[in-house]
Amino acid sequence: MTHKIAVLAGDGIGPEIVDEGLKVVKCLQADFGFDAEIEAAAIGGAGYDLAGDPLPEQTLALCRQADAILFGAIGGPQYDDLERELRPEKGLLRLRSSLSLFSNLRPAMLYPQLADASSLKNELVAGLDIMIVRELTGGIYFGQPRGIRHEIERIARSAFDISMLRNRKLCSVDKANVLEASELWREVVTRVAAEYPEVELSHMYVDNASMQLVRAPKQFDVIVTSNMFGDILSDTAAMLTGSIGMLPSASLDADGKGMYEPIHGSAPDIVGKGLANPLATILSLAMMLRYSLRQAELAGMIDTAVGNVLNQGFRTADIAGGAHSVSTAEMGDAVVAALRELG
Ligand code: IPM
Ligand code: MG
Repeated sequence: MTHKIAVLAGDGIGPEIVDEGLKVVKCLQADFGFDAEIEAAAIGGAGYDLAGDPLPEQTLALCRQADAILFGAIGGPQYDDLERELRPEKGLLRLRSSLSLFSNLRPAMLYPQLADASSLKNELVAGLDIMIVRELTGGIYFGQPRGIRHEIERIARSAFDISMLRNRKLCSVDKANVLEASELWREVVTRVAAEYPEVELSHMYVDNASMQLVRAPKQFDVIVTSNMFGDILSDTAAMLTGSIGMLPSASLDADGKGMYEPIHGSAPDIVGKGLANPLATILSLAMMLRYSLRQAELAGMIDTAVGNVLNQGFRTADIAGGAHSVSTAEMGDAVVAALRELG
């Protein structure tokens, strides 16, 4: 079966890191029998430059018929003065919403090879492996609440399902002591919990959760939370691993179709310098193979290849800690070489 993959490189370092992801796709096609059809389209600032719209119609149409989407990054200082509807971020938000990509999975795991990159003490983060499940198409990002009970239910199920595949421990983060919407959130999550008796559910206020994440992050396994809280907490969790350039993400609809993107941004300050870390994009591709394309074996091989290049000492500048570093393209090439060795 031919998998249709839409590729939206976007702005800033987006095109550089996506190029490395595509090298890996080519390797899978050439050496591992992976059958995929790749088509690129413009989004964000690039969409605005091309068509006066951060989500051009052709781009949305392509994404609708794709099985999965690989996304780079969007935004840049040259677009900061545009009116809100035309800003690059709006393109991403409209895409998430148009495709109902409501379940955003943001893993934060510490690679043992990179333990020293964390800003926290080693014993606090050694072995860290958290999954943040962020509601992605509701909340104050999208204005007035409408039918939110259903929105809470589906993200709760998504989080409980993932908990069942992990350590069966779920922490729901809200602000139920102040916000009416959070009170409903807590009520619905608690009700859905009855369907998952094996999962141990706890609740935490968001201010406390932000503190606990830097105080004792290993108390968490899966966290489920609303759009805005998830945006903030996932950046904190990412930094615990010391390497925002390493972390992938998935945004899924109810049928498992998804968009996959590194959680870092467009990094305008390092564009074109070969400094960007392509591993988050390459690991996003692994998530795509696992969650949308049902190619768990290939996904596992990419994960292994990334671990192997880290073991071999390959580091881009963001994770080199001042030591010798390789370029964006050299890192991509190293992953491809490591993959071939697994073949
Ligand atoms: C993210 C980003 C986006 C968000 C921006 C770019 C719209 O910060 O994916 O976390 O706020 O969701
Ligand atoms: Mg964010």
